[in-house]
Amino acid sequence: MNTNYDPNSINTIIAQVENENALPMAVSALKQGGLVAFPTETVYGLGANALDETAAAKIYAAKGRPSDNPLIVHIANTKDVYELASNVPEKAVMLMEAFWPGPLTIILPKKDIVPDGTTGGLKTVAIRMPSHPAALDLIKKSGLYIAAPSANTSGRPSPTTALHVAEDMMGKIDVILDGGAVGIGIESTIVDLTDDTPSILRPGFVTKSMLENVIGPVNIDPALINLDPTLRPKAPGMKYTHYAPKGELTVVEADPSKGLSSTKDIIDVINELTEDKISQGYKVAVITTQDNAPFYISNNVLIAGEEGKGETIAAKLYSILRQCDDLNVDFIYSEAFNHGELGSAIMNRLLKAAGQRVITV
Ligand code: TXA
Ligand code: MG
Repeated sequence: MNTNYDPNSINTIIAQVENENALPMAVSALKQGGLVAFPTETVYGLGANALDETAAAKIYAAKGRPSDNPLIVHIANTKDVYELASNVPEKAVMLMEAFWPGPLTIILPKKDIVPDGTTGGLKTVAIRMPSHPAALDLIKKSGLYIAAPSANTSGRPSPTTALHVAEDMMGKIDVILDGGAVGIGIESTIVDLTDDTPSILRPGFVTKSMLENVIGPVNIDPALINLDPTLRPKAPGMKYTHYAPKGELTVVEADPSKGLSSTKDIIDVINELTEDKISQGYKVAVITTQDNAPFYISNNVLIAGEEGKGETIAAKLYSILRQCDDLNVDFIYSEAFNHGELGSAIMNRLLKAAGQRVITV
């Protein structure tokens, strides 16, 4: 492997994180204003020097990302927050102590050194300290703050393996650090700390109750719950269509008043819909759990995880949405996975992927 990075090359190099040349090559690419995809504990990120506007601009180009959608700045030392943010309230310190390194992003007012090209013109900055050793290594060895959105083409599901990154980014970025499949599988929780009462702008692995145990009452951005299109989410990225597979995805959920017996109703309805579409010559996939999988008639039953175990579903969700594209299915029916602590984070992604198309049985 050649450790001399050529900035004019668009040959994307995929390197295993264990390879001794991988990190030096990635560091060199970042220092020269290049783009490096790397594993984090949530999803793969697409990194560039956060203080270099030209480098950050390349991220938008590689992803096809709208320029008003700001980037998260990744750091490896808590003290770096004070270099990037002009005000760090007590509650931010408490959250940093409780959840960093880990899947939590905090929004604070930015200092001038953070360019508008990184924050999409906002006067605030999103900061996160990831816990994945390869991510921490990359930040420390480069000596940079690394701006990194998820390493997918805008609109596609976030990548949870290096192969997913390669599908979207070959020929567009310099290095892909392959650290295997990520652990969590959905993006970090985002908490805005610029108002008196903190609010969740994106649900994630760190849940509302986990946050409230540390800092007291936390709001949820109303635009996440009320789907009134005139409400603008405070995290610009949350307003965009996301994760949508090419086939038409519909979520089939239980009427909460019906209790557990409704699982059979959901299976029956999905099987009826499947039969109907197959009879019209369409290809259908079903997204379910290991527990319910045997009851579906579709030829493409995709198992997202285990019933009641949100973390197993989060870990598989994005790769299953990508698999739907690989299978070229026309219609996809998914059970709702709104049980457990992670339910709201999972359903936020699944409903976006479904364009909010829901059948309640
Ligand atoms: O887990 C994660 O957070 C991953 C990994 C790579 O760290 N990153 C990630 O980045 O999900 P991205 O760019 O795909 O999503 C960042 C979200 C977007 O919805 C963006 O609008 C929001 O964070 N955001 C960034 N800066 C913000 C700010 N200053 N104010 C409000 N929202 C912000
Ligand atoms: Mg993203």
